[in-house]
Amino acid sequence: MNTNVQKVRKDYAKRELKRDDLPNSPVELLEDWLSAAESTDPDDYNAMCLSSVDETGKPSSRIVLLRSITDQGIRFFTNYESKKGRDIAVNENVCVNFFWRDWERQVRITGVASRCTPKVSDDYFASRPRASQIGAWTSHQSKSNVEPKIQERIKDAIESFKDAEVIPRPDFWGGYDLSIETIEFWQGRPSRLHNRWRYRIKNESEGAWNVDLLDP
Ligand SMILES: Cc1cc2nc3c(=O)[nH]c(=O)nc-3n(C[C@H](O)[C@H](O)[C@H](O)COP(=O)(O)O)c2cc1C
Repeated sequence: MNTNVQKVRKDYAKRELKRDDLPNSPVELLEDWLSAAESTDPDDYNAMCLSSVDETGKPSSRIVLLRSITDQGIRFFTNYESKKGRDIAVNENVCVNFFWRDWERQVRITGVASRCTPKVSDDYFASRPRASQIGAWTSHQSKSNVEPKIQERIKDAIESFKDAEVIPRPDFWGGYDLSIETIEFWQGRPSRLHNRWRYRIKNESEGAWNVDLLDP
């Protein structure tokens, strides 16, 4: 093997996460960690790995962008007919993971995904650049060997929307809200003795959480 994967070794030592550092609401801590990550990686800090599970129990993961944090949970946008959309239609349980290398931090969130309201998806779609809106119309995301080929479909779509001032949102494209059931904050520590704190929702209506310390 031509790479160094067996030998590369890094000690995590920049920071600590102690019980006293934990706010009552994990959303507050998530927002703090996102702001910190934004300061060092303003382009990609909101990229998160989303895992879904299909009807046979097989998982798959991919990167999507966190678009907001709301009372409904964390929000991302995609094609509802994509692989992930089809998985969520049969199994609403999903997991997302952030890794911020500059901060030696990881966050894992588990919960249930549900479609945003059409209004939320419309508003977000309207805020996207026109080329991305056309892209959403033309991509049969995750399908194989689609004819005509994508470049041709894009040309056709540009032509058919050329007089449209506003491009409407396709029904097959929109947002999901992931309501948080558990959220684990991981801070890298020396000798693999990392700090791991997991919040678990106790009472959703009161926003009350149990907090556990996990072994590294
Ligand atoms: C940095 C980055 C950001 C991405 N953001 C999104 C996103 O917000 N929504 C999305 O549908 N796909 C996004 N993608 C593409 C997905 O990773 C994936 O290829 C696509 O959604 C199809 O996934 P699926 O076949 O598992 O459904 C992003 C990829 C990268 C690398």
